[in-house]
Amino acid sequence: MASRRHILLINGPNLNLLGTREPQIYGSTTLHDIEQASHTLAFSLGLRLTTFQSNHEGAIIDRIHQAAGFFPSPPSPSPSSAATTTEAGVGPGDKVSAIIINPGAYTHTSIGIRDALLGTGIPFVEVHVSNVHAREAFRHHSYLSDKAVAVICGLGPFGYSAALEFLGRHMKF
Ligand code: DQA
Repeated sequence: MASRRHILLINGPNLNLLGTREPQIYGSTTLHDIEQASHTLAFSLGLRLTTFQSNHEGAIIDRIHQAAGFFPSPPSPSPSSAATTTEAGVGPGDKVSAIIINPGAYTHTSIGIRDALLGTGIPFVEVHVSNVHAREAFRHHSYLSDKAVAVICGLGPFGYSAALEFLGRHMKF
């Protein structure tokens, strides 16, 4: 059997609070619920799914690099070992075919996450639980949307399922 295409689901800052965070906006479904449902759906679509959540911009950038087989640079070398340790770490990694990302507040601020996605060239779907366009003006701009394969917002947790379904059934990798 052909190997399953690998999808990485990234959730950014404060999304670990789903379920208790502003339930009038984000509902009562937890991130754990979303990840469980996503694993079940991914399996039925013949996809392999890895999930990742972080409240830290750099950790998200590192995880995107890792998804393309690149690893963060090692710590600064001591002078005596400079010649052998200045190369950025690059390894075979655990490459992914596509990313589903809810960058949380970094949507509206992070050129770094944009650059990581563009730098790796991994196609991505941007998901938001809430309808960001019906909220404060500062949520209307995304640093990712113009480069995304698709943007889904306002569908609640179903947005993650919609993204997976799209990747599993319609996306040519
Ligand atoms: C969010 C919308 C963002 O504006 C906000 O900062 C979040 C969650 C959403 O899923 O609706 O943290 O990405």
